[in-house]
Amino acid sequence: MVDADNSQDKAIQWFRGASPYIKAHRGATMVMCLPDALLDTPLFNNLIPDLALLSHLGVRLVLSFGLRTQIDSALEKKHAISTIIEGRRVTDDEALKSILTASGRARSLFESRLSMGLPNTPMAGARLSVCSGNYITAQPFGVHNGIDYQHTGTVRQVHSAEINNQLASGNIVLLPPTGYSLTGDIFNLPAEEVSCEAAIALKADKLIFFVDTLPLDENGRVIREASAASMEALAQKQQSDELSRTLLRAIKASRNNVARVHLLSLSDPNALMRELFTIDGGGTLVTAKRWEHLRAAGIQDVNGIIELIEPLQNNGTLATRTREQLEIDIEQFVVCEREGMVIACAALFASTDSGTDSDRAANGLGEIACVVTHPDYRGQGRAGDLIAHLEAKAKSLNLSTLMLLSTRAAHWFIERGYEEKSAADMPATRKIAYDSKRNSKMFVKQL
Ligand SMILES: CC(C)(COP(=O)(O)OP(=O)(O)OC[C@H]1O[C@@H](n2cnc3c(N)ncnc32)[C@H](O)[C@@H]1OP(=O)(O)O)[C@@H](O)C(=O)NCCC(=O)NCCS
Repeated sequence: MVDADNSQDKAIQWFRGASPYIKAHRGATMVMCLPDALLDTPLFNNLIPDLALLSHLGVRLVLSFGLRTQIDSALEKKHAISTIIEGRRVTDDEALKSILTASGRARSLFESRLSMGLPNTPMAGARLSVCSGNYITAQPFGVHNGIDYQHTGTVRQVHSAEINNQLASGNIVLLPPTGYSLTGDIFNLPAEEVSCEAAIALKADKLIFFVDTLPLDENGRVIREASAASMEALAQKQQSDELSRTLLRAIKASRNNVARVHLLSLSDPNALMRELFTIDGGGTLVTAKRWEHLRAAGIQDVNGIIELIEPLQNNGTLATRTREQLEIDIEQFVVCEREGMVIACAALFASTDSGTDSDRAANGLGEIACVVTHPDYRGQGRAGDLIAHLEAKAKSLNLSTLMLLSTRAAHWFIERGYEEKSAADMPATRKIAYDSKRNSKMFVKQL
């Protein structure tokens, strides 16, 4: 009984934790690229209820699917030779026939799975409406290095208005890896290209690729998050050419206003839900290069930070820090720089007791301070980003608790999970420096 209660409590806690994501995803357009390797695996059956759930939560879903392995095996059975160069198949008449057969089968598979609704299944009563159509205009890929790619094409236009109409009617849109030309010809298209171009044309909030392996950095660690610019340097050095090509598409989409591109592992059955509804996610996130960026502060930022905080020190919002103090503490600061100007800052002091790294870890307590966004740039998530960054840094320093003092931003911190505590509960060593005249409130968050 106790165990059941515990697991229920955990589920309730998880649900509460997921609520900001549920809110954020409602009405969002997500384009997903599903490789056909997925279609015949148990993962596909897992994914279908997840897609249904997303659709019921108000996510506008566009599913693009590939057919590569199915075509390979169909052609193999016919003893037909098929050439793939840099991810593009040379599509002759025989290959095109196989593509059309496989495409019809894949479409029926999606339609049937999304129509499931038997009681006692995760899809009970779900029945979703799926549609497909001539939403992609293609043109021939042509002759490259003397090789005629025949029925292989490239995306010429994505008919986003028609797709948007379907999404607005609550339909899930399926995009097969085929397109039609103005001459009425059918072309085979790489699914990754279809999804990338569709995400750009639809100004999608997310583009999601499912891949065999996630990208690794120079030290062989999975890259969890990267800007398009830093990913570019790593794209060519990946384990497979296919992954490199997917990364290039991810970079292209990010640079063309697709806010977030996610790469998820095909071997993780919960990859999609983990990525969309948990803070740490599980895949790789590629975001657009921002012409402003968040970075650790250096001594060159002291003047910029002073300009930013001085008015707030003068009106009593912030405690006064001298230039000397700031110069000593500069390494604890992170700043948001926009075209050479510091427009937001925040600091993390890893211990209120002493300075050494081991003391910090033993102490487990950090203090957030000096969270400021320039008045012209408020309300766009900058301070939120800085705090998220510092909380991640605190975790990496093995800190378990963060405290802060604030006179005017109580609710801002409460909304980000900080709880008000009595200043009397402050560690004794911190109390020494506490200016009781300011009467700041203390807030604490367990990490
Ligand atoms: C508090 C502060 C850092 C927020 O910066 P920001 O970059 O605008 O923050 P975000 O964009 O992440 O968050 C904006 C949201 O917080 C809300 N907000 C801003 N200041 C707030 C405050 N003092 N109390 C409660 N909510 C506040 C905004 O209304 C906005 O809400 P919305 O999303 O519902 O529109 C900024 O207002 C500031 O510099 N204030 C003065 C300095 C200060 O008091 N710092 C805290 C003590 S260290």
